[in-house]
Parts: sequence; C-alpha cells; structure tokens
Amino acid sequence: MSEHAQSNKVDVRPQWWDSMFAPSSCLVLITTCDDEGRVNAAAFGTCTRVCHDPVHIAFTVGLGKDTANNVLANGQFVVNVVPFEADMLDRTLVCGLPFRPTNDELAAAGLSALPSRVVRPPRILECRSHFECSVAWTHPWLNRLMVCGKVEAVSADADCIDTQGHVVWDRLKPAHYCGARYGNKFVPVYEKPTPAHWRYEGTDDDFIEGQDWQTAFYPELKK
Ligand SMILES: Cc1cc2nc3c(=O)[nH]c(=O)nc-3n(C[C@H](O)[C@H](O)[C@H](O)COP(=O)(O)O)c2cc1C
Repeated sequence: MSEHAQSNKVDVRPQWWDSMFAPSSCLVLITTCDDEGRVNAAAFGTCTRVCHDPVHIAFTVGLGKDTANNVLANGQFVVNVVPFEADMLDRTLVCGLPFRPTNDELAAAGLSALPSRVVRPPRILECRSHFECSVAWTHPWLNRLMVCGKVEAVSADADCIDTQGHVVWDRLKPAHYCGARYGNKFVPVYEKPTPAHWRYEGTDDDFIEGQDWQTAFYPELKK
C-alpha cells in the first residue's frame, strides 16, 4: 500500500486493547494435581499451540493460582478443549471462580474426572479433546506465570475424528474466548476451515536459497 493510501483506521483506547484482541485463544479447562493428588480445574482463555513438532501448548496463569502452584510443583497438566454448547460454557465459568485450593471445581461444576493416558491430572469427560502435557518450561513475569508444555498424549471422542484422522468440526465444536479479563463471551468453530490459495506473483529468487513458494511448507512436493 502506498504511503498516500486512504484508510479508515482509528486508534484504539488503551482500556479496550485487551478485548480488541479477539478471539484470544481456544477456550479450555486445565486440570492439574497438588502434592496430595487433589485435582484442580480452571478455565483458561490464553491457551495456544506454540510448536508444531513436537507439539507444545502454552498458557499464562496468575502467580499464586492453584494451577500455577501445581504446575510448578508437579510438572504436569491436561488441556481439555471445551465444546461450544451453552451448558458446557456455563460449567466452564464455574471453574473460573476463585475456589479455595481444597475445593473440587469439577464437582462444583458438575463435571467428571476421567483418568488420563499418561499423566496424573485427569481428563474431563465432558470435554471432547484432551492434551496431556509435561511442563517444558515456565517463565514468571509481571504477576503471571507463562507455562509451556510438551504434549505427551492426545485423545478425543471417537465421533470427533474421521477415519483419516481429521477433525469433525461440527462435533468437536471448539470455542474461542473473546473479550477482556475474564468475561463470558465466546464464539464457536463449527465450520470446516476454509482453505486459502497459495499464490505468489514473484520469482523463486525472492526466497531463501533452496526455498520456493510452492513447496515452502510441503518439502515432500519438491521435485
Ligand atoms: C473464560 C475464562 C477464561 C479465563 N482465562 C484465564 C487465563 O487465561 N489465565 C488465568 O490466569 N486465569 C484465567 N481465568 C480465571 C481463572 O479460571 C480463575 O482465576 C481460577 O480461579 C483459577 O483457578 P485456580 O486457582 O484453581 O488455578 C479465566 C476465567 C474464565 C471464566
């Protein structure tokens, strides 16, 4: 765009910056365990896949929260993806309430613990996909703890994956979290992702030596 191009941009007021970044991430419930094996569940709107291979998932949590304490003490967590269904969204909000450490959020929200495949914290039965993680690293900053976990096992409801291993979107129905801290606004993902078309008008000389636009992310297509 030339420097004289017209635009209809307006500056966003600082108090709106947080909610303007929407959707912020996948809505999830994260389960952890304390030293006695007591299960904790909490709602998260900051959870994102941050590495493709091996798959890693990251989120941030307030320092001093049970989730932060349990992750630091025991190095494991399970990310349970919440389906966009009114009942599950309501239950998720219950898991976002500031319960005492000894209170059982799953019981309070009417959710059920299901033993995980490889880690100690359980899966949540009513969620449809589950990512069991071991902590790769944590980083405290401001009043938060950034947590990055290596995915060790993934499971899902059988009808949420087709025979090719692809997601059945209108069964999994993941929800995106929208809005500022910590609201109750979500958007659904029902639709099959829409493919965009790889297209580039320039030449292969524009790219790093040995790379071209057709096969940049699909080296198996290289002749
Ligand atoms: C929709 C929603 C999203 C939330 N996202 C986060 C988040 O990303 N990080 C965070 O620290 N707290 C988040 N919270 C708040 C926590 O769920 C809440 O502080 C909870 O009490 C923490 O529980 P814990 O002390 O058992 O870990 C969210 C709450 C809701 C309702």
